[in-house]
Amino acid sequence: MAQGRFITFEGGEGAGKSTQIRLLADELQRRGLSVSITREPGGSEGAEQIRRLLVEGDPGRWDSMTEALLNFAARRDHVARKVWPALAEGQWVLCDRFADSTLAYQGYGHGLPLHAIEQLYDMTLGAFVPDLTLILDIAVEDGLRRANGRGGQENRFERMGSAFHQRLRQGFLEIARHHPERCAVVRADVPLEEVRQAVLRVVESRLAIPGAS
Ligand code: TYD
Repeated sequence: MAQGRFITFEGGEGAGKSTQIRLLADELQRRGLSVSITREPGGSEGAEQIRRLLVEGDPGRWDSMTEALLNFAARRDHVARKVWPALAEGQWVLCDRFADSTLAYQGYGHGLPLHAIEQLYDMTLGAFVPDLTLILDIAVEDGLRRANGRGGQENRFERMGSAFHQRLRQGFLEIARHHPERCAVVRADVPLEEVRQAVLRVVESRLAIPGAS
């Protein structure tokens, strides 16, 4: 059986990742692929427990290194228990956030040295990298307006202030510049249908979709 593909979606708050993931999953399923949607932090039972420590509570609850360690603990569990087995079964795994979020939030956002995050990555995941990373880019104010409209308890990061969110937007764009073979930036400040088409164009051009003409 063919090995599956691992596609990650990244971006700041309110960029519309989860909607676009669902739309891409629908399209890939229509084309006969077996698709699995997952998210970070979380995606496996243990990682979802760690997620609660990360997304709830006071913004200053963790220092940046602890936050990175918790994210990588969750990531290791998620990848080992869920992502690798799904890829081995030939599934296309669409993941809402992955390690670039740690670089952006804990690195560019909170100032943790990027090389420390890269070391954690090497230790926990080795040479495993996404086949494709879509970075949905939107102006900070527009994204936060959308995200704040959602309400709910999981707003620890949304409350971190606009300078923080500016740094992480620039961080994501820099990550894309450093890894052009893996990453593609998609404008997310246009109508949903346009974003959907742009995402699909990138997936079709970067990855061979079986059965696609
Ligand atoms: P998520 O639920 O994906 O937030 P959103 O709805 O904005 O997409 O992720 C929860 C929060 O965790 C989000 O604010 C980003 C943050 N985060 C990190 O700080 N580091 C990480 O490594 C990951 C995966 C997420």
